[in-house]
Amino acid sequence: MAKLWGGRFSKNTNELVDAFNASINYDKRLYREDIRGSIAHATMLAKQGIISVEDKDKIVQGLKDILADIEAGKFDFSVELEDIHMNIEARLTERIGDAGARLHTARSRNDQVALDMHMYVKREVAEIAELLIRFEEALLTVAKKHDKTLMPGYTHLQRAQPITFAHHLLAYFNMLRRDFDRLLGVFDRADIMPLGAGAIAGTTFPIDRFFVAEQLHFSKVYPNSMDAVSDRDYILEFLSFASILMMHMSRLSEELCLWSSTEFGFIELDDAFATGSSMMPQKKNPDISELVRGKTGRVYGEMIAMMTTLKGLPLTYNKDLQEDKEGLFDAIDTVKFTLQVYRDMILTMQVKTDRMKWAVSHDFSNATDLADYLVRKGLPFRKAHAVVGKCVAYAIKENKFLLDMTLAEYKQFSDLFEPDLMQALDPEHCVNARVSYGGPSYVENDKQFVVCDKVLADQETACKALETKL
Ligand code: ARG
Repeated sequence: MAKLWGGRFSKNTNELVDAFNASINYDKRLYREDIRGSIAHATMLAKQGIISVEDKDKIVQGLKDILADIEAGKFDFSVELEDIHMNIEARLTERIGDAGARLHTARSRNDQVALDMHMYVKREVAEIAELLIRFEEALLTVAKKHDKTLMPGYTHLQRAQPITFAHHLLAYFNMLRRDFDRLLGVFDRADIMPLGAGAIAGTTFPIDRFFVAEQLHFSKVYPNSMDAVSDRDYILEFLSFASILMMHMSRLSEELCLWSSTEFGFIELDDAFATGSSMMPQKKNPDISELVRGKTGRVYGEMIAMMTTLKGLPLTYNKDLQEDKEGLFDAIDTVKFTLQVYRDMILTMQVKTDRMKWAVSHDFSNATDLADYLVRKGLPFRKAHAVVGKCVAYAIKENKFLLDMTLAEYKQFSDLFEPDLMQALDPEHCVNARVSYGGPSYVENDKQFVVCDKVLADQETACKALETKL
C-alpha cells in the first residue's frame, strides 16, 4: 500500500518495520477525537481562505461518514497505514479525492496526535471525575449507616484505640477528596490546544489557532510550538494521579482482604463480589480486592515508564513519544473499572457490627483512656502511662482485659482509681471522649458528615463545569 509520506522512498517498507512502527492497534481508540479535531481544522482552513468552502464541506461530510462506519464496525483499520491519523485520512481521500488530500494543509501528525491526546484525556478525566464522586458517595452512605459501629483502630496492625467504622471509612473519603482535586489539576493542564504547532515550528499559512481552540472548547492555546508538540506533562500528571488513587484503593483493598478473613471477620463480601476455589469447597475469596492491589503495581509501572521515556528526549517530536499511549489507556481502564466495581462492592458488603463490637471490648485498646483518666485525677501523663502499663501487664498475666479487673485490683497500682474508672473504659465512652477536631466522637463525626455532603455537592458542580469544556 502506498504510504502518505512515500514520495522520497523507492522501496516498500519491510513488514516487520510496519508491524513495529504501527500504533493503530491501540490508537484507534482516538478515532472520535481525531475526526472532531480534523473537522475543526478544516473549518478553520476554510474560514481563513486556505481551502475552499466546497472542499471543507466535502471533508466534513466525508469524516462524518467515516465516523459512522467506525461506530458501525464497518471500517477496516490497516497496519500499513500505521496510525489512526493516516488510516482516517487515507480513507477520506479514497472517498472524496483531492479535497481529502487538502485536509493536512498547515498540520503535521505531531500536532494532530497531541490534539487528539489532549481531547481524549479531557474526556476521560471528566468521566473519571464522575465515577470518583459516585464512589465517594458510596463510602459516605456506608459510613452514615455505621456512625455508631464501634471497632478497634489499628497501628502496626495491633489494636490501638477504639474508633467507629464511619471514622475509618471517612479517612478514605478524605484521600479521595484529594484525588479529585488532583484530577481537576490534570484537566486544567490537558485543557490547552496544541494544533497549529505543525511538526515543530508552526506554519507559513495564515491559520487561526484560537478559532480551533474555541470550536473544541479549549480554554488556552500553547504559546510555544515546540512545547506544544513535545509536552506530555498532562499524561504524566494523569498517571501520577492514577498511581496515587490506586495506592488509596490498594490500601482499602488490603483492609477488605484482612477484614473478610476468619481471623478478623469484620465484613463479608456479597456473593456477587467474591469468588470460589476450584479445589476447596469452603472458600470465598476477595479476588477483586487482590486484583486492585495487584493492578496498582502495573499503574505505577506505567507512570515510571512514561517518566523514563521522557527523561532523555531532545526537543521536539521523537517516535519514542508514541509510547505515551498504551500505559495511559491501561491506567484509564484500570481506574474506571476499579471505581465502578468498588462502588457496588462497598454498598453490598455485609458489615459484621457485632463482631467489631466484640473485638473492641476484648482488647486493650482502652488503655490510653485509662491513662487519660489518671491524668484527669492529677497524675502527669508519663506517670499515668507507666501505671497503666503495669495494669496491662497484670491483666495479661491474669488472663483478663481492663474491663474485667476489679477496683481492688486497680488500687494495687494507684490510689487515684475510683469506681468511675469503669465508665472511662467503656469503648463507646472512649470514642465519644475523643472530641478533638477530626476525632472519632459521634459529635465530631456528625459534623464531618455535613462537610462531606458539601464536598460532594461542590465536586458535582466542578464536574458539570468540566462537561462544558469538552
Ligand atoms: N502515531 C504517532 C504517535 O502516536 C503519530 C505522530 C507521528 N509523527 C511522526 N512524525 N512520525 O506519536
